[in-house]
Amino acid sequence: MTPPPPSHADDLHTFLRSRRSIRRFKPDPSTGSGQCPVPASVIERILVTATHAPSAHNLQPWRFALAPPNSAARDRLAQTLTSALRRDMTAAGAPEAEIEKRLASSVRRIQEAPVLVLLCRDVTAVREHKRQDEIMAVQSVANAATYLLLAAHAEGLGGNWICWPLYAQEETRLALDLPATWEPQAMIFLGYPDETPPEKTLKPLEEVVVSVQ
Ligand SMILES: Cc1cc2nc3c(=O)[nH]c(=O)nc-3n(C[C@H](O)[C@H](O)[C@H](O)COP(=O)(O)O)c2cc1C
Repeated sequence: MTPPPPSHADDLHTFLRSRRSIRRFKPDPSTGSGQCPVPASVIERILVTATHAPSAHNLQPWRFALAPPNSAARDRLAQTLTSALRRDMTAAGAPEAEIEKRLASSVRRIQEAPVLVLLCRDVTAVREHKRQDEIMAVQSVANAATYLLLAAHAEGLGGNWICWPLYAQEETRLALDLPATWEPQAMIFLGYPDETPPEKTLKPLEEVVVSVQ
């Protein structure tokens, strides 16, 4: 594909730098309750763009499971992920009140997000079952997640990458009745932004870049 002409580069950098994690979504203006729905055509465009991400050996190991709002799948996902969260917080000695608060907020977020995408890796999409190949596959899925977030941003949506499924991969797969080869990696919530996150502090370039001779 031909790269955009240089005069567009500034716009593209500004766009890329303006993406932020969004955790609050606009309410549905027609009902005043629930959250503003995202048209199916927009979700599809975003998913198509996500599949343009680079992947090791072009194996495209990403798989996406969409769970619509108010679906039984959302309920099962909420149940599964909060059970794992309770187990882990209890093991870490968190106070009961804190656990309950966190679980209630997690259930609400899972049930209310206008779009919920569970991003998985197909464990068979590797050249060889070697550690390096598996890392490459996970890195490739992460690229799709980033493309997905940026494509959502281009549509005026906000999103948040959620790592919870990593703590209950098999339970999450079973809860959504996904193929045995789909390994949950992350969950992404999308919706129309209802917050402006505070500015974030970036590490200075000198701290993260070294020039080697
Ligand atoms: C691998 C990964 C896992 C993340 N997991 C979570 C999460 O579980 N919950 C959450 O609220 N944000 C999560 N985030 C979002 C980060 O907190 C966020 O990207 C970071 O604070 C920088 O803020 P920004 O996205 O607004 O630039 C995750 C991001 C990545 C890349």
